[in-house]
Amino acid sequence: GIEPLDLTVCKPLAEAPQWQTKRSSRKDDHVRLALQQHEQEPANAFDDVRFIHHALCGVSVSQVDMSTTVCGSRWELPFYINAMTGGSQRTGSINASLARAAQSTGIAIASGSQHAALRDPELAATFTAIREQSQGFVFANVGSTVTPQQAVQAVTMLNANALQIHVNLAQEIVMPEGNRDFSGWPQRIREIIAASPVPVVVKEVGFGMSRRSVEQLAALGARTVDVSGRGGTDFAAIENSRRSAREYGYLDGWGQSTVLCLLDCCGFDASGEDSLGSVDILASGGVRNPLDVVKALALGAKAVGVSGHFLRVFEDRGESGLVDEINAWAEQLRSLMALLGATTVADLQHTDLLLGGMTLEQTTLLGVD
Ligand code: FNR
Repeated sequence: GIEPLDLTVCKPLAEAPQWQTKRSSRKDDHVRLALQQHEQEPANAFDDVRFIHHALCGVSVSQVDMSTTVCGSRWELPFYINAMTGGSQRTGSINASLARAAQSTGIAIASGSQHAALRDPELAATFTAIREQSQGFVFANVGSTVTPQQAVQAVTMLNANALQIHVNLAQEIVMPEGNRDFSGWPQRIREIIAASPVPVVVKEVGFGMSRRSVEQLAALGARTVDVSGRGGTDFAAIENSRRSAREYGYLDGWGQSTVLCLLDCCGFDASGEDSLGSVDILASGGVRNPLDVVKALALGAKAVGVSGHFLRVFEDRGESGLVDEINAWAEQLRSLMALLGATTVADLQHTDLLLGGMTLEQTTLLGVD
């Protein structure tokens, strides 16, 4: 096995290579602070969802088919390593390990934001490590500020199967060096989708997508949206920790939970019509175990992304530990689907769910049945 990097020791800038700019040290900060957040995995809105147990499931574990279709491609497993990192030496090496784990377990993987490499080609190797290590499904990743040409370049850089566009408004607000002009985002998203040679996923980064946002994205041409909600990695808290005085500390915990997003976006509107019928929903944000995966699938997600939890497992148990974890999730997922009488991912949508806690109160406010 390959030893995990010691992510707790941060090289002082003076000793770092020339290209270790403020930007790439920001990537190291993100990893370090996200790891701290995932030392414990507290209760979240997935705990407000319970399945009604039926005593006679009537299926065999061996009958269960866990495959799903994302961006027109069939995946054998309905969960994936979601966008995280790249852009510094340390994060390039993390990308290589995550990609080897994805390759050996057969799951898809997303790159972190490739902006650093678009600005400085010397940093491209910290991202291309993903494609070098994984021949499977790879997502490229850009924000909604890049030009369509840069988005195409990001796809080419990784020979990617699909492109993620992240929208991270709340993070930019709290980030000390964050953007302040968001007026061009919708038009850029439209242009990037039109120019992309591969399917596009528009994703949040842990603050969630409302139904209104998904409807707007659908009108801009989006066919797949990752709601990436609150409950796991909190980028408001991460960016507050990078400020001198946590000035926006009151924004920690901003956004909607992943569960609430799924209830909002995968439900039906008052007329009984599913107005988002043409958009596939992916789920991420606060997924801690295979039961959370099953819950997200039952609430309508086509597949489920995991970032912080897998990063933490890699940090604690190394690359082989991450491979073991992913394989264990696949095996447990199969068992859980049988427990629920589902032989396919689509069958999970016919399970009986109970909602409680804060999520139940919030759905009443949203008018979700
Ligand atoms: C992220 N995330 C992210 N998303 C994105 O689209 N581009 C990016 O560059 C990053 N960078 C990044 C770094 C680190 C260290 C983490 C942990 C996460 C967000 C990620 O894809 C996901 O949307 C959220 O983290 C919520 O999922 P988890 O972490 O709660 O499973």
